[in-house]
Amino acid sequence: MSDATPDQAPELRDAAVAARANAHCPYSGYAVGAAIRTASGQVFTGCNVENAAYPEGTCAEAGAIAAMVLAGERTIREVAVVTDGEAPGTPCGGCRQRLREFAGPDVVVEASTVGGVTTRSTMAELLPDSFGPERLNPRS
Ligand code: THU
Repeated sequence: MSDATPDQAPELRDAAVAARANAHCPYSGYAVGAAIRTASGQVFTGCNVENAAYPEGTCAEAGAIAAMVLAGERTIREVAVVTDGEAPGTPCGGCRQRLREFAGPDVVVEASTVGGVTTRSTMAELLPDSFGPERLNPRS
């Protein structure tokens, strides 16, 4: 992980900020926005959607990935996640694996706060020695 200024991928971060505004998080109060840039250059976004039955809530990254797959895209090139708080919220363990399905080891995940504190990590740093689709020789 490395510190970085927040303006290296401003449009992707901006997309995550906009998505975060729609978060449904009445239980945690922790709004998250995520934005994914794909190989085609398109950007897909998601926000966390909590549920009164707590385990049924979904993370922002999961929403962005679902939108990406629905659009027929499969290759993640860059990720931005925006949270509140003093330190950036990097993707949870489950979301690291979800991203890994479509992101190679060198893909950069930028995590930043609404205040602009930013860190950048590669997928390999976030999920070392990971289990990925190439192990299963997927058909599509
Ligand atoms: N959350 C995300 O959206 N992404 C993550 O990677 C970490 C956690 C959400 C889930 C829940 O709605 C809230 O943050 C608090 O955990």
